[in-house]
Amino acid sequence: MIIYKSMRKRIVAGNWKMNKTLKEGVDLANEINSKTEHLKDHSVKIILGTPFIHLAEVAKTVNPAYVKIAAQNCAAWSHGAYTGEVSAEMIRLAGAEYVILGHSERRKYFNEDGELLNTKVKLALENMLKPIFCCGEVLEERKENKHFEVVKTQLEEGVFNLPEEDFKEIVIAYEPVWAIGTGETATSEQAQEMHHFIRQEIAKKYGQSIADDTSILYGGSCKPSNAKELFSNEDVDGGLIGGASLNADDFLGIITAFQD
Ligand code: 13P
Repeated sequence: MIIYKSMRKRIVAGNWKMNKTLKEGVDLANEINSKTEHLKDHSVKIILGTPFIHLAEVAKTVNPAYVKIAAQNCAAWSHGAYTGEVSAEMIRLAGAEYVILGHSERRKYFNEDGELLNTKVKLALENMLKPIFCCGEVLEERKENKHFEVVKTQLEEGVFNLPEEDFKEIVIAYEPVWAIGTGETATSEQAQEMHHFIRQEIAKKYGQSIADDTSILYGGSCKPSNAKELFSNEDVDGGLIGGASLNADDFLGIITAFQD
């Protein structure tokens, strides 16, 4: 049976990381909103991953029918005496629908491991936030040909113990760490090969139908000039975009890569 990837949600998500003041962020969201409003085909889901303090204001700025909001992290506890943390419930009630979890920068600079991320994933789901769960290998691991094993372990630890109904809410983002912010994109073949592997692992765990319905995004130096080629792969359902999401025209160029 031929499975058409169009059955899955196609997504272009921006990860602003720690960029943009509140005013700059609202201005950017406004510009993205107005420049995407006219697109006839809203089959591409647009997500803006903003800093915590931007969430509520950006949520008010965009048309929620086609621009969704994501946080870039959430606390591993539901509430209480955890100074400086922001809970999944707070994020949801600020207007976000998604939360990016397991980004390599969180794993590296904040020592977030599989067990902690699994706790965050579960808390997000309990609060009706959909996790965009990131995985990906560092350069050494790829050179040693361990990239499949590394990604499989990240998935097993982070999301593969979820019940089926919960896993259906997950979006996966494959972000090879060596391609993040480096200008060095994975080749189209490398991206497809890993996305296909991820989908196979999902199929082994949850069955082919759920695997076929799971959106798997590519992240790492994705830009208007390479998005079309990356997104044309059977198992690449969109992108998680860092640098190029900070400029409305670049971000729009990536969104429209799906539509030409
Ligand atoms: P760049 O697009 O800047 O390489 O960042 C990718 C990323 O980390 C998105 O989460």
